[in-house]
Amino acid sequence: MTKKDFITLTDYKAETLVKIIKRAIEFKKGSHPSCEAGGKVLAMIFTKPSTRTNVSFFVAMQRLGGQAMYLGSEALQLSRGETIGDTAKTLSRYVDAVIIRTFSHFDAVALSESASVPVINGLTDLLHPCQALGDVMTICEKKGFDFNKIKMVYIGDGNNVCNSLINAAGVLGFKLTVASPEGFEPSEDVFEKMEKINPDIRLEKDPHTAVSDADVIYTDVWVSMGDEDEEEIRKKTFSKYQVNKSLVSKAKKDFIVMHCLPANRGEEITDEIMDGKNSAIFDQAENRLHIQQALLEYLFKESEK
Ligand code: CP
Ligand code: NVA
Repeated sequence: MTKKDFITLTDYKAETLVKIIKRAIEFKKGSHPSCEAGGKVLAMIFTKPSTRTNVSFFVAMQRLGGQAMYLGSEALQLSRGETIGDTAKTLSRYVDAVIIRTFSHFDAVALSESASVPVINGLTDLLHPCQALGDVMTICEKKGFDFNKIKMVYIGDGNNVCNSLINAAGVLGFKLTVASPEGFEPSEDVFEKMEKINPDIRLEKDPHTAVSDADVIYTDVWVSMGDEDEEEIRKKTFSKYQVNKSLVSKAKKDFIVMHCLPANRGEEITDEIMDGKNSAIFDQAENRLHIQQALLEYLFKESEK
């Protein structure tokens, strides 16, 4: 029995991701009830806050016939220095899968290496693969599965969400231009690896140039969880990177706007754009539920082989 983790999208082939997305679309239609997780329990370790990831994983497990337990920062002996390895080995004796949201990406990797059950990355400082997979599902619903016809433009901080979107563009082959100010570009390592397999992943300084002919405009907060010390400098540096009416006017007519949420309205995105007719933002939030239901089903099935 080999267990399967979901730590980064780059561990997956395009066809597997597409299969999970198609299953999520079936779940969304409500046409395929499943009890793949009957009696199973998901442990959810969160050392950072969460609305969407927490609630959508909880509901996804319920819909699959299983249960989920929320383990916040103070809930585990991890907070008193128990090692990640010992935590992973112990939890693997009780539960059927673990999701972790934390700061260091290496902690999520260490957990997956020591656990004998599937481990899901629910966001680290480096990556947010569940978000990017749900986002691709949203793009497929709105624009179809012909990835090489899609141009996404990411405006703002080259953060965990941006890095996972780069990984998605690398594996699935859509065009991606990232416009970030100097010093706030995405991970060099992620960018260089993905650029080699998809030369249509580009960096651009000027957000107005970047957004030309975009099918999808994506943004995220300027101050991520853990970056609070840099709030002042970040707000100054990013002021020209707001997604507003003037910026989106350069995109294709039928562009969609995306944001992983939570948003700081009036900073990285205006109310007008967030609530406007091109916004796909709350469809994105909904799709976290369906994609994670499909992902859990996939991981449980694979790990039973
Ligand atoms: N997008 C996202 O992961 O939201 P939460 O931080 O609320 O989980
Ligand atoms: N980049 C944000 C995403 C939140 C879902 C953060 O890490 O805080």
